[in-house]
Formats: sequence, C-alpha cells, structure tokens
Amino acid sequence: MMFGSNTLGNGWVVPADDAAITAATQLLMAGQIVAIPTETVYGLAADAQNVDAVARIYAAKGRPDFNPLIVHVRDQKAAEKLGVFNATAQALAEAFWPGPLTLVLPLQPDAPIARAVTAGLPTIAIRCPAHPVMQALLLKSGLSLAAPSANPSGSISTTRADHVLKGLGGAVPMILDGGSCSAGLESTIVAVREDGWQILRPGPVTSEDIENVIGYAPLAATNGFIEAPGQMASHYAPSKPVRLNVIASEPDVYLIGFGAIAGDDNLSATGDLAQAAAHLFEALHTADASAAVAIAVAPIPHEGIGIAINDRLARAAVR
Ligand code: TXA
Ligand code: MG
Repeated sequence: MMFGSNTLGNGWVVPADDAAITAATQLLMAGQIVAIPTETVYGLAADAQNVDAVARIYAAKGRPDFNPLIVHVRDQKAAEKLGVFNATAQALAEAFWPGPLTLVLPLQPDAPIARAVTAGLPTIAIRCPAHPVMQALLLKSGLSLAAPSANPSGSISTTRADHVLKGLGGAVPMILDGGSCSAGLESTIVAVREDGWQILRPGPVTSEDIENVIGYAPLAATNGFIEAPGQMASHYAPSKPVRLNVIASEPDVYLIGFGAIAGDDNLSATGDLAQAAAHLFEALHTADASAAVAIAVAPIPHEGIGIAINDRLARAAVR
C-alpha cells in the first residue's frame, strides 16, 4: 500500500491493517494527529509530550483550551509515570484496565506531557484502552497518546470511521477504520481522591461495578463546580432539536425507539441497554442526516449503562 500520496490535511480513511498501523505510528511519531478506533468511541490521537501535536488536536476539534485531554497509555506502569496511584486507583486499574475507564489522578510533578494536555490542572486523566488497534499504536510508537473523542467540539461523538470523515475529514491526515466501536459511549471518568472516589462522567463501567471493587459508595457530588470541564450542559448536540421520553411518532420527527417503541430506528428491539449504548451515536448521526425537522428519543431505563445513555441524551437535548 502507498502512503506517500496523501496530502496532510485531507482526511483519508484506511482499514486498520498492519501497514496502516505502521503508517499511523510514523505520523504520530512525527507530531501529526491521527483518528483512531477505540472500544468506546473514535479518538483523535497525538503524542501527549509534543506541544505542537497537542495544539493540532485543539485546532482540529475547535476545542476550547480550558478543556483537558485524556492520555492513553499501554499499561499501568506507563500510567504511573503520569499520575500518582493510591490504593483505590491501584484497585481500579487492576479491575478495569485495559478497558473503558478513565482515572483522574494527581499529576506527577515530572510527568512527561505537554502542559496543554491537562489545561493547567493539578490532575491528569489517564486511560489504558483495550482496542487492539490502539494497543498496537501505543506499543509500536512507545508514546503516550492524548486523544479526545474524534468529533468537532460540542457535536456528536463518533463510533464509525465515516462519521469521523464527515466531521473532521478536512482537518485530519489519516482516519484508521477499525469498524464500529463495541461499547459506543465514552469511557467512565472516575476521580480518585485521598478519601474516596467520584464519577465525573458516567460510562460503560457503572457505579455499581466500581462499588463492587472498592467496597464503598462514591463521595457526594461536588456542588456547582464543573470538575470535568468538558461536561458542559450542551454537548453531543445534533443540528436539530432533540426531545426525550417520546413514546409515539409524529410527522417530520425522526423517532429513535427502544424496546417496544419501534420508531424510525431502534436502539435495541429487545431492550438490551448495552446494545442501545453501542448504537446511540450512530442513531443520532443518522437522525441528524435525515429529512426530519426534529429528533425524538424513546424513554431509556435509568439503570446500569442506561444512566450513561441518559447523560448523553440530556446533553444532546440542550441547545
Ligand atoms: O472513551 C473516551 O474516554 C474517549 C476515547 C477516545 O478514549 N475520549 C474522550 O475524550 O471521551 P473527550 O476529550 O471527549 O472527553 C474527555 C473528558 C472531558 O470532559 C474533559 O474535560 C475530561 O475528560 N477531563 C480530562 N482531563 C481531566 C482532569 N484532569 N480532570 C477532570 N476532567 C478531565
Ligand atoms: Mg468528547
């Protein structure tokens, strides 16, 4: 396969085979950004230590510079160079890595990362991803990779390479196509404190999953202070108005169903919440591209991963 002909700056979707992973590794090592599949959503990756590479992420997404990035690492040993692990962090990493859990930990004083990655915070968000393509990139490059979700800032996250192309195609030299993301929702973000833990963003690893490992409940939520700066009220926003908890279709409204509420599309006809999570962003992209003037979504049970689905839907509905 030839990789020389692509002009940097023009999105190029390539199946994530060995040759493409090698080419992507070279781009990352040269300070370029590459869109990559993970088990949660597609990410926009760059060398976390390279100031210019990290700046390219913010520019491509149009992301405000106060919103810090998650750093992806090969394993816990690599994570310990970046963040300070206490016993709670240790237990969570052992239980859920590699996988869809991000730990917010005190930043190591000498952590080898560009300052823009943490947006000046005294903490750092770290994740060890399970996806084989992401693991291969981390291993081959030897880098820690800063990677936000691969979508223009504030718009719907992506679980398919063609959705990345549509949103960021003009701003990314290469998009590695690893098929659909299996979890379909961004990682759970947990802040680990001296005296406990707190969920900053619900995700595929549920609060109960974590409580089962740690043995005690999360600390009460911090009032009014947006600790995960990316958790703004409006996020994941399609271009059309979104209404929630809708049980019947209406003309000109695209209904995303669940269970017995069929709709124009159905997140899971059998009422399976994991399947619904995996299909959510794809359904929102399809609804947004349809001829309908508005999007409606059937009620989703508020339990397990349904809590993360409802979190994303609530933000999609704020305009
Ligand atoms: O599943 C995921 O987490 C995906 C894939 C690509 O790994 N990444 C992702 O990144 O969702 P992003 O940038 O879309 O969301 C990261 C969130 C933002 O809300 C950001 O504010 C928060 O993590 N965050 C990053 N560093 C933080 C820190 N030190 N303290 C609190 N929140 C932080
Ligand atoms: Mg995001």
